[in-house]
Amino acid sequence: MSSLGTSQNRVLSGMRPTGKLHLGHYHGVLKNWLKLQQEHECFFFVADWHALTTHYDEREMIADHVWEMLIDWLACGINPSLARVFIQSRVPEHAELHLLLSMITPLGWLERVPTYKDQQDKLREKDLATYGFLGYPLLQSADILIYRAGGVPVGEDQVAHVEITREVARRFNHMFGREPGFEDKAMEASKRMGKKNNKLYQQLRRKYQEQGDQEALEVARALVQGQQNITLADRERLYGYLDGSGVVILPEPQAMLTPASKMPGLDGQKMSKSYGNTIALRDEPDEVDRKIRTMPTDPARVRRSDPGEPEKCPVWSFHEVYSDDATKDWVQQGCRSAGIGCLECKKPVIDAVQAELAPIRERARKLEQDHDAVRAVVDKGVEAARDAARDTMEEVRRVMGLDYR
Ligand code: TRP
Ligand code: SF4
Repeated sequence: MSSLGTSQNRVLSGMRPTGKLHLGHYHGVLKNWLKLQQEHECFFFVADWHALTTHYDEREMIADHVWEMLIDWLACGINPSLARVFIQSRVPEHAELHLLLSMITPLGWLERVPTYKDQQDKLREKDLATYGFLGYPLLQSADILIYRAGGVPVGEDQVAHVEITREVARRFNHMFGREPGFEDKAMEASKRMGKKNNKLYQQLRRKYQEQGDQEALEVARALVQGQQNITLADRERLYGYLDGSGVVILPEPQAMLTPASKMPGLDGQKMSKSYGNTIALRDEPDEVDRKIRTMPTDPARVRRSDPGEPEKCPVWSFHEVYSDDATKDWVQQGCRSAGIGCLECKKPVIDAVQAELAPIRERARKLEQDHDAVRAVVDKGVEAARDAARDTMEEVRRVMGLDYR
């Protein structure tokens, strides 16, 4: 199939607003985003509507959570001149696309998404037998497809959502990729290439379609590609008419699997607010110091003279994130021989975490004092996002027969 190849380099990702972020977010997600913003056209947004699908009864929290998270993104180095940073609910086009996609999405597809049952079981105290919650992955599909993003950086837990997005896109293109009057429009487009090219294009197309001549297909594609003065829509029609595939309105995105973070929580479990084992990006230095000093270590080391085993100690996991080889050797040796004490062992970790957090904390403090600056970033991001989203919606409305006035 031909596709609107304009935005395949585009990357989109979102996070539900959970308030202040911690080191788990930084090592697990944000460092990856920092790299991506250098290499791709990035759209990063706060999925506030997604938060409401499960936390509709906590509306007094949502505004704070949104702004705190945005401050942390910016403090970590998400750069608004490289990436578009915005809030989902400020781009109502997401909701319109969600609605339109809902017309063609079989219920079974949504019921089968693993997070649907998992989350209902996990959040048993909430009533999640709602229409909005069932539609969670479809809203996410709309988030992605509205920007025609090529790549979606997500963790393992979100891969199923990208997969259903691909299925929905495929179904959409199959149903609507042949715009009304497609053949006529393709013929018109062909004529606009000029008399000679038109004739050549038609000949090559016939050769391919009647005799399966691959070379004719390649030559014709090159001919279309070489045209300087045709619109993007015409180009896509010409590609689609050539191989009989129609037009891809919503390209299928790829999941870009974020490698699982090595950063554990203070107790060795996954770092998560609900486990109370986090170091927040904006924790004060003495708080950071205290948290690491009181971290549990290998329980076998009751006395200073007892040897320990780093593999059984969450502090060792921190060394794996923060320490160089020499320091790691020193830990391995010193721990197993009881040559070092646990506080001594924690010292380089404390220093490394403090060094990492100091500039982030400082930038966050400045942003806390300058709410207007944060708002301005979002305003600008919303504008850019809406421009892209409006373009897609015009196409979507047109192919669904909704472009009457
Ligand atoms: N569901 C995602 C999460 O919980 C957040 C999200 C919403 C998202 N829309 C998205 C992620 C679009 C990637 C792309 O993490
Ligand atoms: Fe853990 Fe270090 Fe103590 Fe060994 S010496 S138990 S690795 S804190």
